[in-house]
Amino acid sequence: MRVFCHWSHPVSVKATTRKKTVAALVIYLYAGGMTTETDFDIFLVAAPGTEIALRNEANELGFKAAKISPGGVTIRGTWGEVWRANLQLRGAARVLARIGEIRAFHLAQLDKRARKFPWRDFLRADVPVKVEVVTNKKSKIYHAGAAIQRFEKAITEELGAPISAEADVRIKVRIDDNLCIISVDTSGEGLHKRGHKPAVGKAPMRENLAAMFLRQCGYDGSEPVVDPMCGSGTFVIEAAEIAMGMIPGRSRSFAFEQLANFDDATWQKVRSEGQGAETELRFFGSDRNAGVVDAATTNAERAGVDGCTNFTHHAVSDLTRPDGPPGLVIVNPPYGGRIGNKKLLFALYGALGKTLSARFSGWRVGIVTSEPGLAKATDLPFLPTGAPVAHGGIKIRLYQTARLP
Ligand SMILES: C[S@@+](CC[C@H](N)C(=O)[O-])C[C@H]1O[C@@H](n2cnc3c(N)ncnc32)[C@H](O)[C@@H]1O
Repeated sequence: MRVFCHWSHPVSVKATTRKKTVAALVIYLYAGGMTTETDFDIFLVAAPGTEIALRNEANELGFKAAKISPGGVTIRGTWGEVWRANLQLRGAARVLARIGEIRAFHLAQLDKRARKFPWRDFLRADVPVKVEVVTNKKSKIYHAGAAIQRFEKAITEELGAPISAEADVRIKVRIDDNLCIISVDTSGEGLHKRGHKPAVGKAPMRENLAAMFLRQCGYDGSEPVVDPMCGSGTFVIEAAEIAMGMIPGRSRSFAFEQLANFDDATWQKVRSEGQGAETELRFFGSDRNAGVVDAATTNAERAGVDGCTNFTHHAVSDLTRPDGPPGLVIVNPPYGGRIGNKKLLFALYGALGKTLSARFSGWRVGIVTSEPGLAKATDLPFLPTGAPVAHGGIKIRLYQTARLP
């Protein structure tokens, strides 16, 4: 058995988020007299297709040894870095802390070794837990259900923690070649839930995806953004938050707050520092559906970006270019597979392309859609397209232009 990250308070982690707001956002986690701990693997789960963008974000935020693996990015760090990853990364879907490994060739061996695992270093006896196992035929233990039962029994009987299907704290085990790799999901609810967006439209873009598409468009918070089919306002709100240097996880809670090594006093201090600064830039959303425009306005207020965002009710053909410097138009129009009739959509994409070509000279455009034919119907001069990204059971892609002539 190997255990990677024993009980200890987070130590001297210093992180800067955005250059512009360094003073406001510098975060210190301090040891409070506890001993130092060594780095371990932290896996940042990404929506497939966004791994490179997430690796780049992790590097920019100063995380160590960011390496792409299938479905995510592995970084090295202490528990302080686990907290920081949850709090600061816009592109991660969740953050898994790799806490140890158990070699097991049969269930009796797993049972014995799982009981010896130092669960109390990570889990609390009074907090419900759930275990999830992924295994395959390459391992002698290939029945996930039987392995889950052994792990859950070990945790309840050795530590006393209750097992619950609804538990916020989840132990995730991957059995590969007879090695059980044990992680704790430190996020709880997916990190796309920023905690300040109760109102969503028909087909909302996940916040972590929106952030990674903005990043792929080269968006760094220094230019205005327009979304002419804004729905619940995801792109506009993410862009405004980036410009204001707001920390994405500032309004929500995380599963790590219920782990044995959590220190609330330090965490409250850390979290209170991510409130952002003012920006001169403006961010615009519009939609032909009045209900979603109201929802986007409410969402922006709750996110604290209402001072620099503006949502209006009109169709894309009535879109006008905002005063001021050029920036980025980013939009995910309806796709045939999800809402609306594909044939009618060709006309809609055509109207979008026409409006942007006629009125947005000097602006860059990013269109996220599932259909190459629909993207083509805009007749915009797209650069080579990026990797497909899995979203709600379909594959979507970003089609982007250079500055329009
Ligand atoms: C896929 S949703 C966008 C979701 C949005 N990105 C979000 O995160 O909530 C597409 C949006 O396009 C809007 N829409 C469809 N046709 C439109 C048109 N002609 N003009 C403006 N908006 C339109 C719909 O009302 C819908 O809100």
